[in-house]
Parts: sequence; structure tokens; C-alpha cells
Amino acid sequence: MGERVRVAVLLSGRGSNLIALAEHKRREERPYDIVLAASNVPEARGLVAARRLAIPFWSHSHRGMDRAEYDALIDSELRRHQVEVVALAGYMRLLSDDFVDRWSGRVLNIHPSLLPLYKGLGTHNRALQAGDLWAGCSVHLVTKELDGGPVLAQAKVRIRPRETVESLALRVLEEEHRLYPQALEAFCDIMRTQRQTDERG
Ligand code: GRF
Repeated sequence: MGERVRVAVLLSGRGSNLIALAEHKRREERPYDIVLAASNVPEARGLVAARRLAIPFWSHSHRGMDRAEYDALIDSELRRHQVEVVALAGYMRLLSDDFVDRWSGRVLNIHPSLLPLYKGLGTHNRALQAGDLWAGCSVHLVTKELDGGPVLAQAKVRIRPRETVESLALRVLEEEHRLYPQALEAFCDIMRTQRQTDERG
């Protein structure tokens, strides 16, 4: 079945999705390897998790750099590790247009809402304020429009009476940890099959 797809995870915070992707991979043979965890926040907890999981990691603060310059730095790091797919997991920076163009169709993100509802921040609060019956999370391809790329997978969470932002955030996060590994696996499977077809000419 060909080489596994080389994935980098970009994060800025806690890193629970990185852990979910790595554990999924650890349990069974999967079509991807996490070859790099990269962060714009050198003190991110996700990097501590990467170290514990023996995933190579890299960080550099974005402070004092413009977006294009910073993204060029990340790009060179990704290339150095021969990364093929980038999985954003709580990466709290907009990507430059150049970066998105260069990696077009190969960057995934997980967002804590049922897209196209509630792009951007504060998703759980907005769902509760709207009186929604359902919340959830989405894995989508990254395009230049914030949280606007094609949705690859979604999981729904029923909003309960007396739900709070905190309880909903926790319940959605549990679904993220199920959804993201499955979506990444499916994506990398297709990519691997495509690669083999291309190799056969
Ligand atoms: C998740 O809620 C994800 O949907 C959003 O950022 C959060 C990251 O959490 N994009 P973690 O750092 O993976 O724990």
C-alpha cells in the first residue's frame, strides 16, 4: 500500500487534537505519519505533548514578523520535513494568501461549529445565543476565506437544556477528537491511492 502521507500539525495552544491524531495513529496502522508539530507560540502546551509523543517539533514566535515573512519560514520548515499535508489544530493565525496558494488542497482545519454556521471565534456562545438545537464541529479544507473552504466531515452534538458554553465546548471537543482522526485518515487514504495511480501513469 505505498508510503504513508507525511503530515504536519500546526497549533498555538493546548494540543488536544494533536494528541487525538497521534493516538489514532498509534492504535493501528494508518495511512499517515505525523512528522512535525509546529507552533507560533513557543510555550504552547501542544509542544509539550509533541515531545511526550516523540513527535519532532518546531516553534518560532510570529511577533515582530509580517505574515508573509513568517509563513515563508513555516513553509521552509514543512519542506525540510517533506510534509505533504498540513493539519491545523487550534492554529490561531490567519495564513497568508501565498501560503494558502502554495499548499492549496493540502491544508485541513478543524472548527468547533457546524459550518457554514459560526465562522471565526466564540462559536459555542453564538450557538447558545441563537437557541440552536444542534452544535458540532467540522473538518474543512483551508482556502483564503476564513473557515470557508469545502467541508470534508462533520459531527453533531445535541444542545441540552441548561447547556453552558463550558459544557458544550467539552462535548464538542470530544467529538473533534473522534472526527479529526477519521477525516485525516480518509483524506490521506485518498491521497495515497491517487499517488499510486499517478505513479502507474
Ligand atoms: C479546537 O476547539 C478546534 O476546533 C479549534 O481550536 C481548538 C483547539 O484545541 N480550531 P486543541 O489545541 O486541539 O486542544
